[in-house]
Amino acid sequence: MEGMNFHVMTLFPEMIEQGLSTSILGRAMERGLISLDAVNIRDYSLDKHRRVDDYPYGGGAGMVMTADPVVRCYRAIEAKIAGIGRKRPRVIYLTPQGRTFTQSMAQELAQEEELVFLCGHYEGIDERAVEMIVTDQVSIGDYVLTGGELPVMVMIDVISRLVPGVLNNQESPEFETFHDNLLEYPQYTRPEVYEGRRVPEVLLSGHHAKIEEWRRMQSILRTDAARPDLMERAVLSKKEQRFYREYRQARETEEEASAIQEGDSKSKNE
Ligand code: ADE
Repeated sequence: MEGMNFHVMTLFPEMIEQGLSTSILGRAMERGLISLDAVNIRDYSLDKHRRVDDYPYGGGAGMVMTADPVVRCYRAIEAKIAGIGRKRPRVIYLTPQGRTFTQSMAQELAQEEELVFLCGHYEGIDERAVEMIVTDQVSIGDYVLTGGELPVMVMIDVISRLVPGVLNNQESPEFETFHDNLLEYPQYTRPEVYEGRRVPEVLLSGHHAKIEEWRRMQSILRTDAARPDLMERAVLSKKEQRFYREYRQARETEEEASAIQEGDSKSKNE
């Protein structure tokens, strides 16, 4: 198939299918821009009870996913991909041990035609299966989930919206959070006054250049307040750099003034 094909190796294929088939991604699948192939690892177990896990060598808590069903599942997917003449895909294992997922990683992965994901469960997967098939290990953040299913849904959602045609032009990813490493500006819609709170005047002015400038400044102030780590890599125009410098200077002066005041009131109370 043309477009982007996602293959997910999991013990819970229904969870993946249900989680990704609504709204924007459901529409993208209907239009053939992306496809989702959720494959049940259990179908590749040769065990008579279809078992896919076993006790860990060396002891310890929990169960480990056995290598064979995972490797056989992968080979079936690999054969499907080779069958339509596409190259060996990247195989992404979802694990807290991986590199942290970011928007720029998503941009890179959105260039691929086929992506294969491996979801672990229990206490992990036999390391030999990981060595044999995995090309990338990815974490969605520094916390531990019960399995890779929610993380893979996060990744597919983020990557899909970067595939051309999945969003309308108005929703273009160029105009949003993390573009230029800035967070998004605040949005307002009707009514003009809600429980006494007015929409900022400039947005009603119809003055496009002023509105654009106000939005950029809001983005800068928000990023500075919530994510100062992004601010260091923000892409700002000369004018914006000046605005931001002056804003920081004003704030420092204010902080110094209040520190002096606090010191004064302290010494008075002593
Ligand atoms: N599996 C369990 N926790 C995870 C995480 N934070 N990221 C990716 N996969 C996981």
